[in-house]
Amino acid sequence: MRMRQLQSFVWTLLLVAAGAAADSSQWPAQSSPFPADAAEEARLNGILARMSLSDKVGQVIMGEIQHVSPRDVKRYRLGAVLNGGGSFPGKDRHASAADWLALADAYHEASIDRNDGRPAIPVIWGTDAVHGANNVFGATLFPHNIGLGATANPVLLELIGAATAREVAATGIYWNFAPTLAVPRNDRWGRTYEGYSEQPDRVAELGAALIEGMQGAVGRDFMAPGKVLATAKHFLGDGGTTDGVDQGNTEVGEDELARIHASGYRTALGSGAQTVMVSFSSWNGLKMHANPYLLQEVLKGRMGFDGFLVGDWDGHSQVPGCSAGSCPEAFNAGVDMFMAPKQWKRLHRNLLRQVRMGEIAGARLDDAVRRILRVKLRAGLLDAPRPSSRPLAPERESGTVSRSEWIGHPEHRALARRAVRESLVLLKNEGSVLPIEPKSRVLVAGAAASDIPSQLGGWSMTWQGDDIENSDFPGATSILGGITAAVEGTGGTVEYRQFSELGTGSAASLPDVALLVYGERPYAEYEGDVKTLEFSSRDKSHLEAALRLQAAGVRVVSVLLTGRPLAVPDEIEASDAFVVAWLPGSEGAGVADVLIAASDGAPRFDFAGRLSFSWPERADQAVNNPGDEPYRPAYPPGFGLRYEQFDGS
Ligand code: GLC
Repeated sequence: MRMRQLQSFVWTLLLVAAGAAADSSQWPAQSSPFPADAAEEARLNGILARMSLSDKVGQVIMGEIQHVSPRDVKRYRLGAVLNGGGSFPGKDRHASAADWLALADAYHEASIDRNDGRPAIPVIWGTDAVHGANNVFGATLFPHNIGLGATANPVLLELIGAATAREVAATGIYWNFAPTLAVPRNDRWGRTYEGYSEQPDRVAELGAALIEGMQGAVGRDFMAPGKVLATAKHFLGDGGTTDGVDQGNTEVGEDELARIHASGYRTALGSGAQTVMVSFSSWNGLKMHANPYLLQEVLKGRMGFDGFLVGDWDGHSQVPGCSAGSCPEAFNAGVDMFMAPKQWKRLHRNLLRQVRMGEIAGARLDDAVRRILRVKLRAGLLDAPRPSSRPLAPERESGTVSRSEWIGHPEHRALARRAVRESLVLLKNEGSVLPIEPKSRVLVAGAAASDIPSQLGGWSMTWQGDDIENSDFPGATSILGGITAAVEGTGGTVEYRQFSELGTGSAASLPDVALLVYGERPYAEYEGDVKTLEFSSRDKSHLEAALRLQAAGVRVVSVLLTGRPLAVPDEIEASDAFVVAWLPGSEGAGVADVLIAASDGAPRFDFAGRLSFSWPERADQAVNNPGDEPYRPAYPPGFGLRYEQFDGS
């Protein structure tokens, strides 16, 4: 028996074992929020009947824009393209909205260019706009999900979804690979910040709100002008892997998988999510990309999902016996569209052969194509003109704002700044050092205060967000910029220093208060996996600075930029006030809005954020969720101090 056959045999045994133990009654029984539409299905039948086998195979493949030309889309009739993190039209990170739009038009025109009597099916372009249109030069970047989770404000999330959709649609793209509905249970995971919360219900509530804002509501304004398709991802259990290993193995019982990790999907599907992205991770040793029980029986059957399942970035290649160019197992398990950035041509050739040889049933291919066409039909994309001709906002607005003006629109930046304010969590405020009084002499210290990439995190212009600079984000404000404007606005002064420059100056030069800004360096996915929750094990210059300043009698406020809860007991001890700012995005001025008092000394905005994750006391407390034994957080979910608690009201 050849290796590939042996792997398939072992795989089958694993599936049988998993299937035997499976009990789909543990999963929410629900049906699609879209009413059955006989005319719609009849139209889909008509299209399918006129498609060639090669057309159908092309429709279930998505390639990456650096590896797929409009000519390729026409020749292979590809169903979709994507731009990965750090991939831009012309490889230009400063590409304008017009550049994005021109490429979207080119793909669209190519996809419908045919005169052989077969159906011309528009291609769809997917992108990762996970905290605003974060690939686009000049766009508004919202706080990452961990900060939005701390707002606990679904109304705000819906507004953010709508604003994000407008900026994405302005570039001619109508499919967003967001929101992530992970429920991160081990904070060592490099994608913790893409999760709203360790609490399933919070994820369910906020994910649904984001989706309704982004797509519009079914029966109300679904895919109206300015809306884009959402993606519920990554199905299933991406946040539950052992040791928080990204793309690892989620070893939990079916009841926990359903109760904890599927909570966001229950509400996402109910809110009309039309695409679901499959997780790289495994459940009890079985790769999600080839788990027919969860993909077909649970998601498409029990949970009534009638959109389409898209694989993650060559995720199918991780299935035993598969490669980036060939994986019938994933397709037969229920993946409807392959995300095949580079090997899409080889995949097209192998899929054709696998269908002809019967490794893939024609009915399975038809089901996948039908699902993709149904989503394109429901989204109005089958009949839509080229992207640059599509209206971008309800008539009453579209006359006043041009497409490119939506990118970084002042209304969106104001919304993002509000989200920053509402995401900040106050863990300590001894002596009411906050809000910083008018006319104060403020020392701001720490490179992160002026470094906009530090406040953005990953998925910002590039995938990792670690090779970008302030000039890549026109219109953004740094935390220092916001503090300076606010303090000087009340007649105060600001001095800015690096930690290394903080000697013990003479008493006369000491500030009234020192505001130290520090945090994690940007990362994304597995690049952000860590062994412990210790912060900055090597460079303790921020802590030394805090201790020196406190010893000199200066009150210290720490602002922590982080994509996860961190064990920072020494930093909290060395600070009179401690603020968690998460990854606030482009509108750093939102931090000053809360920390700096108005000229009359009153807070301009109170803190609103509450922890949506348990906060650890020790660096080894990476698994630190209510219900775990032992469970001894430094601060539990829901914790967050308010100014009103300090003025006796
Ligand atoms: C990545 C991520 C996924 C993203 C996709 C496309 O590997 O896992 O969240 O949507 O690839 O960039």
